[in-house]
Amino acid sequence: MKRLMHTCLPTFVFDARAEAERELADEIVALVRTKPETVLGLATGDTPVGVYRDLHRAHVARAVSFARASTFNLDEYLDLARDDPRRFRRWMEAHLFQHIDLPPENAHLPESTSSADDPVTVAERYEAAIRAAGGLDLQVLGIGRNGHLGFNEPGSSRASRTRVVDLHPLTRADAAGVFGGLEHVPKRAITMGVGTIFEAARLRVLAFGARKAEIVRRTLHDPMTSAFVSTFLREHGDVKLFVDREAAAQILDEHRAR
Ligand code: GLP
Repeated sequence: MKRLMHTCLPTFVFDARAEAERELADEIVALVRTKPETVLGLATGDTPVGVYRDLHRAHVARAVSFARASTFNLDEYLDLARDDPRRFRRWMEAHLFQHIDLPPENAHLPESTSSADDPVTVAERYEAAIRAAGGLDLQVLGIGRNGHLGFNEPGSSRASRTRVVDLHPLTRADAAGVFGGLEHVPKRAITMGVGTIFEAARLRVLAFGARKAEIVRRTLHDPMTSAFVSTFLREHGDVKLFVDREAAAQILDEHRAR
C-alpha cells in the first residue's frame, strides 16, 4: 500500500482490492472492539462486498461481536415490493446481516415497509433515528461513476439531508443488469443526504477497478462542485480514500507527469 502525496484528501493505493478491504475491515473490527455500541454507516453495491466478507470472517473467528452495535444504510429504492429480492435490505442480509450477531432491530435502512408509509416521513424518521443512536462513528462509502455518494446524484447540495430523490440516468443504467432491463429499475429512492453523511466521525471511501478511474481522478483533481458530489469529500476532517491500482490509473498517470 502506498499513500499518495499532495492530494486534497488522504489517498491510499493498494496493489489488490483485497488488501484495501482487509485494511477497512480491520479498522471496523478495532472500532467495534473498543466501542461495542459503535454506530456504522453502511453501503451496498459491488464495492463493499469484500469488507463484509472480512467482517463475517472476523466474527466467525470470534474476533468481534456486533451484539451491541447498530447500522444505518445509506439508501434504499422506493416503489419495490416489501419482499422484492432487489431491495438493499435483502442484499445486506445476504452479504452481512445473516452472518453476524447484529440484532435485527439494530439494522436500519431508510425504507418504506408498506404502501401506507409516506416516504417523506420515513426520511425524517431516519434522521431522528441516527441522532438518537448517537450519530455515525464510521461511514463506509463507494462512489458512483457519476460521483454520487449514496444516491446523492449530481446537483445534490453539500447541506442536503435524508430525502426522496429521483435516480440519475447513469445510476439507473448501471442497475439495469440487476433488474433485468432499464424499464424495471426504480425511478426513486430514499438516501441519506450529503450533510447527513458528513456528520459521520470517519468517512472511509472505496473505489475499485478501471471503471472508477475517471471518477477517482475527478474526486481528487476537479474543483469542488455539486456536479460531482464526491468532490465534497475533501471537506471532511477524517476521510480516507482506498483505491486499487486500476481505479488509481488516471491519478497515477497525472502524478507521474508532474
Ligand atoms: C450504488 C449505491 C452507492 C454505491 C454506488 C457504487 O447505486 N447507491 O451507495 O456506492 O452506487 O456502486 P458499485 O459499488 O456497485 O460500483
